[in-house]
Amino acid sequence: MIDLTGRRVVVTGGSRGIGAACCRLFAKSGAAVLVQYMASDTKALATLQELRRISDAPHAAFRCDVTDPDQVCKLFDAAEARWGGIDCLINNAGVWVHDPLAQLRPERLQATLSVNVVGAFLAARCAIPLLMGSPDASIINISSTAGQRGEAFYSAYAASKGALISATKSWSSELAPQIRVNAVAPGWVDTDMTSDALSGEQREAVIASIPLHRVATPEDVAGPVVFLASSLARHITGEILNVNGGSVLVG
Ligand SMILES: NC(=O)c1ccc[n+]([C@@H]2O[C@H](COP(=O)([O-])OP(=O)(O)OC[C@H]3O[C@@H](n4cnc5c(N)ncnc54)[C@H](OP(=O)(O)O)[C@@H]3O)[C@@H](O)[C@H]2O)c1
Repeated sequence: MIDLTGRRVVVTGGSRGIGAACCRLFAKSGAAVLVQYMASDTKALATLQELRRISDAPHAAFRCDVTDPDQVCKLFDAAEARWGGIDCLINNAGVWVHDPLAQLRPERLQATLSVNVVGAFLAARCAIPLLMGSPDASIINISSTAGQRGEAFYSAYAASKGALISATKSWSSELAPQIRVNAVAPGWVDTDMTSDALSGEQREAVIASIPLHRVATPEDVAGPVVFLASSLARHITGEILNVNGGSVLVG
């Protein structure tokens, strides 16, 4: 088991799905976790209660919209007030919106880019001063196979996840040697985000397209995230780690 005792981690979109699984695994590894969420009060509270059952570390939850610069600053003010600094930021909050190009709705395009890209930039900007005091600071961006190969009818989403890959590579050089920056690029994962798309016959077609013949669980993604945050990965920066069952073989 990876030991992150004493580490302090902010997870955006920690109320549900992949973010909540990351929160649980960080807590099991000994870290203190700040669960950021936007609308799911009940789920965020349930996640926080789970973390408190897992360990006595000073876990907390904070409600904010990652697209709002002032709210994001307050999130990191809260982390600083509680912990004095942080060791890791997981940029996980995201939305997946069906928006065919021919019927493009500019407000949907804007909303996708605001959460998935601008939100990650705003969080990273505010996190930097708090990360600087850490002996092994890192930022991990949750990208997607869509950002590597594109995704028909979800091109705004694919573009946003491609932007996170290039941001990861840019930030890894810009913030070295103090802060490592990596990305995880999941393929299909069973969460609220994909529950409709992965129902019925479509699910079988998806499974058939994945060499490992399974859809990932949120825990399948959390493991690689926690690895990248740990000192086992201390010489890894600028990496895009595929967690997709072999469906997209690019870095
Ligand atoms: N599921 C997949 O197959 C898959 C594949 C590849 C990549 N990903 C990526 O993995 C990440 C997590 O996905 P998921 O499947 O776990 O999604 P999910 O279950 O739909 O959860 C999305 C999370 O993002 C938060 N969020 C959304 N808009 C926000 C905003 N404006 N400000 C703050 N938080 C916001 C939500 O908070 P509330 O609950 O409070 O609204 C929720 O915690 C996303 O970046 C997604 O693109 C997912």
